[in-house]
Amino acid sequence: MKNIVLIGFMGVGKGSVAREVVGHSNYIAIDTDDLIESMENRKIKNIFEHEGEAYFRKLEKNIAKWLENSVKNTLISTGGGFYKQKNLKKIGIIVLLDSPFDAIIKRIKEHPNAARKLKKRPLLSDLKKAKALYDARRPEYLKLADVVIDVTDKSAEDCSKELLKKVKKHA
Ligand code: S3P
Repeated sequence: MKNIVLIGFMGVGKGSVAREVVGHSNYIAIDTDDLIESMENRKIKNIFEHEGEAYFRKLEKNIAKWLENSVKNTLISTGGGFYKQKNLKKIGIIVLLDSPFDAIIKRIKEHPNAARKLKKRPLLSDLKKAKALYDARRPEYLKLADVVIDVTDKSAEDCSKELLKKVKKHA
């Protein structure tokens, strides 16, 4: 089994889809943000506040090298900016979870933990800037993706079924 690398914008539902995939397959799952938080023993928000974004990106680069060399048979969900890693394609099959910006923001705002979801993501604090980031990134996400899943108005379970079906063709 090749690794699956889940990419996509903040709040698109990478974590929820990953949990569903794990429940319906033999993949185990890891998350690059969780790895960084445990390596640093602090939250992403704290890393951004005290060390800045460039430092966070360096940590992502270290994680990307480790994933390429040491991780197999795994579903890897990634932070929204992780796709910039040069070795991304060497890590596994790239699956993009795609949705329009407004639908992503609506999804976050309707979540029972909306305030926490927004607070933990420094790059979502200004929605105008976040939209500009989305517009810049979306074509790059599409270019990298081996598989694209439009997650708009779909349950995580349905997205996970679609993912497993589409990924088989690349295994
Ligand atoms: C980021 C996305 C976040 C996290 C960090 C930066 C980004 O992950 O890695 O706040 O650059 O888009 P999620 O996509 O899980 O929110």
